Amino acid sequence: MTTVPLEGFHPVKHALRFAPSLVFDVRVRDPAAARALCERLAPDVTDALLARATTGEVAHHTGIAATGALPPPDTSVLRHRDAPLVLLDGPRSPGNAGAVVRVAAAAGASGVAVTGTLDPWHPSVLRGSAGLHYALPVLRLAGHELGCHGLTGPLVVLNADGDPRAALPAEGVLVVGSERSGVSDALRQRADVVLALPMRPGVSSLNLATAVAAALYRRR
Ligand SMILES: C[S@@+](CC[C@H](N)C(=O)[O-])C[C@H]1O[C@@H](n2cnc3c(N)ncnc32)[C@H](O)[C@@H]1O
Repeated sequence: MTTVPLEGFHPVKHALRFAPSLVFDVRVRDPAAARALCERLAPDVTDALLARATTGEVAHHTGIAATGALPPPDTSVLRHRDAPLVLLDGPRSPGNAGAVVRVAAAAGASGVAVTGTLDPWHPSVLRGSAGLHYALPVLRLAGHELGCHGLTGPLVVLNADGDPRAALPAEGVLVVGSERSGVSDALRQRADVVLALPMRPGVSSLNLATAVAAALYRRR
């Protein structure tokens, strides 16, 4: 079983809410303080968290940590969906990728798929998502899964030189480029439409997580 560290109250809370069976080894520094924090911020998880907690040293400042198991990859979202799938094309920054998972979960996207070398389940990405990886499928795509037998649905490429009026359909794949080089030529060539988020003259681009947020909420 592959596991990931859940460092701090928010990742543990989200994992317990969305996938309680995948959370184990919950540790709290001080049970009374953990109870007070839960009751103030997330009373719905108080019982679940404290029932599995052992007391011990926890490095995180919230005094709460756990271990999460990776869910089995749900690749059905590559082919069928009723809300857009976000496809991150070779992101470099774990913080950006985590922020995308967080906003994708909040905005009701069907999942997040990632190409390239960044492991979307790396602990730094999980920190950036506040554990919302457990709220929707988060997948790493191998090259062959981008082919016609893997990913299907209209490809909506986000790029500043696109059409600001282009639509993002529910069954669409929202393709977002990397911090440095944008969307790869291979995916640009497959675009059904290129969607731009208009910017004031002189501004070259939005941060990629901000662009995903704007595109998903514009659709909602
Ligand atoms: C930081 S930008 C990449 C900038 C990169 N230097 C380039 O040449 O595209 C990361 C990604 O966010 C999306 N993005 C950023 N600003 C955008 C905008 N105004 N309209 C549409 N997409 C945008 C694009 O998908 C872009 O590839």
